[in-house]
Amino acid sequence: MRQSLIIGNWKMNGNLAENEKLLNIISVSPILYEDIDVVVCPPSIYITHVRQQLAASKIKYGAQNVSAYKNGAYTGEISTTMLADLGCSYVLLGHSERRSLNHESDGQIADKFAAAVQANLTAVLCVGETLAQRQADETFLVIAQQIQKVVEQVGIQAFKQAVIAYEPIWAIGTGETASPEQAQEVHQQIRQQLAKYDENIARSIQIIYGGSVNENNAKALFLQADIDGALVGGASLKGEHFITICQASINH
Ligand code: 13P
Repeated sequence: MRQSLIIGNWKMNGNLAENEKLLNIISVSPILYEDIDVVVCPPSIYITHVRQQLAASKIKYGAQNVSAYKNGAYTGEISTTMLADLGCSYVLLGHSERRSLNHESDGQIADKFAAAVQANLTAVLCVGETLAQRQADETFLVIAQQIQKVVEQVGIQAFKQAVIAYEPIWAIGTGETASPEQAQEVHQQIRQQLAKYDENIARSIQIIYGGSVNENNAKALFLQADIDGALVGGASLKGEHFITICQASINH
């Protein structure tokens, strides 16, 4: 059975005092004694502090982005080995905000994916369609292409150390969540796509949903057969709400 996974993507929010307060709330929660994976992805500059604060906790942490390059003249960038050096376990790749604001291509995301896996990080590949693409019935075509490019470039075996996050762009930060059925349909199609390459990987990979997940809608999403957890933005900044979402994923 696949273990539930809840990732809090803090995006560009927080500061030392607020992060400390948030981590104090979530790290003492009983969710820590359950069999679920809980991860927070703070802005990279705070990873060291988060690491210190989570030292005695089961909560893991990761980054929101990373460079595809090992080292060298890449001003402002951070490498996968640097993240591993700081004890990160996860890295988000190809978040829609990076695809749109930073023009990241599927090819660049695949390069980052390869670098992450090489550094023993779990790559969280984010995929999703725009509202216009959904209305044009292109949802699965778009997502299949986003995944296909990475499979072609890094090989299906690399997905043993990966998670896929389905985040419909129209549901991110809008308060409008995909219905459990809409999300399930896409998750199932993703699993079927991966099964064409490797059935074991398709069965075991965690596929999580993101886009306006909150303390009220999480449970219904997690009841779906192919939804293994959530990538949570806004609600991950509110300790009590994040805990409720984590609790909703227990035993699914
Ligand atoms: P919200 O939960 O704020 O919609 O953000 C989702 C997201 O982009 C997580 O990566």
